[in-house]
Amino acid sequence: MERTLVTSALPYANGFIHLGHCAGAYLPADIYVRYLRLKGEEVLYVCGSDEHGVAITIAADKEKTTPQAIIDKYHFANMEAFGKLGLSFDIFSRTSIQEHHETAKEFFGDFLKKGLLTDKEEEQFYDPKAKMFLPDRYVEGVCPNCSYDKARGDQCDSCGAYYNQLELKNPKSLVSGETPVVKSTVHWYLQFNLFQEFLETYIEGHSHDWKDNVLQQTRSWLKQGLAERAITRDLDWGVHIDGIPGIDKDKATGKALYVWFDAVLGYITATKVWAKEQNLDINEWKKWWQNDGTRYLAFIGKDNIVFHTLIFPAMLHARGENYILPDNVPANEFLNLEGQKFSKSRNWSIDLKDFIIDFPESNYIDALRYTLAMSFPETKDADFTWKDFQARNNNELADIVGNFINRTAHFVSKQYDSKVPILSDKYKPILDEWNKIVENKDYVPVFNDSISENDYKLIRSLSDGINLVFDNYNRFRFRDALTETMNIARAANKYFNDEEPWKTSKSDPEKCAKTLFICCNLIYSIAVIFAPILPFTSKKILEALAQESNTGEANTNHKHINFWANASKLNLDQGSQLNKPELLFVKIEDETVQKQILKLGDNLEKSKILVDETNITNLITIDDFKKIKLRTARILEAENVPKSKKLIKLQIDLGNEKRQILAGIAEHYKPEELIGKLVVVVANLQPAKLMGLESQGMLLAANGADGNLTLIHPADDGVGIAAEVR
Ligand code: 2FM
Ligand code: ZN
Repeated sequence: MERTLVTSALPYANGFIHLGHCAGAYLPADIYVRYLRLKGEEVLYVCGSDEHGVAITIAADKEKTTPQAIIDKYHFANMEAFGKLGLSFDIFSRTSIQEHHETAKEFFGDFLKKGLLTDKEEEQFYDPKAKMFLPDRYVEGVCPNCSYDKARGDQCDSCGAYYNQLELKNPKSLVSGETPVVKSTVHWYLQFNLFQEFLETYIEGHSHDWKDNVLQQTRSWLKQGLAERAITRDLDWGVHIDGIPGIDKDKATGKALYVWFDAVLGYITATKVWAKEQNLDINEWKKWWQNDGTRYLAFIGKDNIVFHTLIFPAMLHARGENYILPDNVPANEFLNLEGQKFSKSRNWSIDLKDFIIDFPESNYIDALRYTLAMSFPETKDADFTWKDFQARNNNELADIVGNFINRTAHFVSKQYDSKVPILSDKYKPILDEWNKIVENKDYVPVFNDSISENDYKLIRSLSDGINLVFDNYNRFRFRDALTETMNIARAANKYFNDEEPWKTSKSDPEKCAKTLFICCNLIYSIAVIFAPILPFTSKKILEALAQESNTGEANTNHKHINFWANASKLNLDQGSQLNKPELLFVKIEDETVQKQILKLGDNLEKSKILVDETNITNLITIDDFKKIKLRTARILEAENVPKSKKLIKLQIDLGNEKRQILAGIAEHYKPEELIGKLVVVVANLQPAKLMGLESQGMLLAANGADGNLTLIHPADDGVGIAAEVR
């Protein structure tokens, strides 16, 4: 395909966007388009506000204002919040604009001319108090099938029955609470039944590349058989149909298009507006909508599936003019919050704008993008929890990505005057070997003085890892793509550890330079492959490397430069400048997430989350636990670390070896109290540097509610040192 058109469902401008929306239709699309732009592909990413329909008029009544004031308020607020989340729409348009009314009327007029529409008089519920006909969503009553008393206008959530609105018993208007009356009204019906066969062929043509959830829902609609559907409503607010050529003026007065009919066409309008704003040719939009070289992807949440897999395709097909159909509709399921559905009325929600007020720094925005992406509801509903957000930020972004980059930058600044180290002749062959490994997946070099098995393993993980990321993106498996991306950062961190440059800088300076030459280049690779997910961080890193900063922003023309393919290569020249990037990640304290949890729901609900540490997402398996090697050890020496209020430097005896450990216990213990004590040590912790000193493990201590810290000792000193703690 020559180009890719991506749309995200147009959000209703009747409320603030929350994190559940972001994980459904917006962030996945943004990650995907950034990824394509980084590959140098031609992409257009279109979205905007859905500003018609009863949802808007009801919000206006509730807020005692006009529909126009409502859509202005939420359109701009949501656009701003989306911008801050880094969503890279080429355009974020709206459906209330003149251009859109024209697009929608053109489609209606065309269908009228083609004889695809019939007008009919039908009886419907009318709310005399609210003075409006009631759409199905706004009537509730007793199910005619199972007697469930909260059945909706056309469908029962309890037994699943579909029926005609008028069959509902004891109907109540959800707008005014009144009992509706039955009144007759004229509407225009689109003959969707005419497209049954066409749509069946279209959907089955995608049985191999569409997600199961999308296929299942669509097929079940097709199985029931498509019926004609009313595409007009009795509404003041919306796209009015009187005046459309060929329409009966009397019948059409007071009628507006059904919101779904105009909403999906909003994607086309937005494309037209984009072309105009970019001063492109008046027909540019056709290249995106009426050209077989375009691949069209519609990102949505699961509640929008059939509108994008059946209704919109039927409309595009009916229109003719070579309109293309969605090539894929990668719909997500729903995201929950702390185990429950998002609900604004129950105060169980996190609005994006509120998150941004509390966490305005770009590192936290990237951490949110990362956390959401790691729990995208791709195949089933997923959960966002504040503790997961904290853990992803602290243990993955800060401890893996941030740690690797900071260690490398710090080392290079100290030892190499912030320049990418120069390879000695002995190590120069690695430049060629690198390319061979990347270009041929079966190539294994002969390990010798210039290239070690460790080097090879790293290059292989990078190159294979990038291919896996690529594969997963192409299949819309964002969680897997992200896991593989993080694995590359893990491999980089491991490489740094295994190479022990802090030792080789003295014992083998040539090797040390090679290690750091490679680590500097890995920073570049990491910046590129994380760009779709962490665009703000990636930009900071690329700027520090003085490299062209491409994070796949909107309306950038990087066509044909494949930054993505470069990520597995060596990009930084020897001797080039490497600055320490500005702060990448900042750890999040327990108190911060507790404060957020306290904002949710009522007291009982929040206390449950705070107390319940074994929240489902935090459960680990026995194998996870077994990874931690706990051993008893005796403290041989202890002394305060100069200039540190918290740290004590300990020498401990682990039986077969002695180790140095830096423990943050100086505010609770005096060094002399510690000597001779039997303690429990995490024996397989990655070494870390604190205040320039190496720490080779960690002591276990209990942190009391009053902030007091007490070391854990075996109850019986007789177990001695080197005992396994389980
Ligand atoms: O569910 C919604 O929020 C709708 N406003 C989505 C519309 S998608 C497209 F049709 F615009
Ligand atoms: Zn029922």
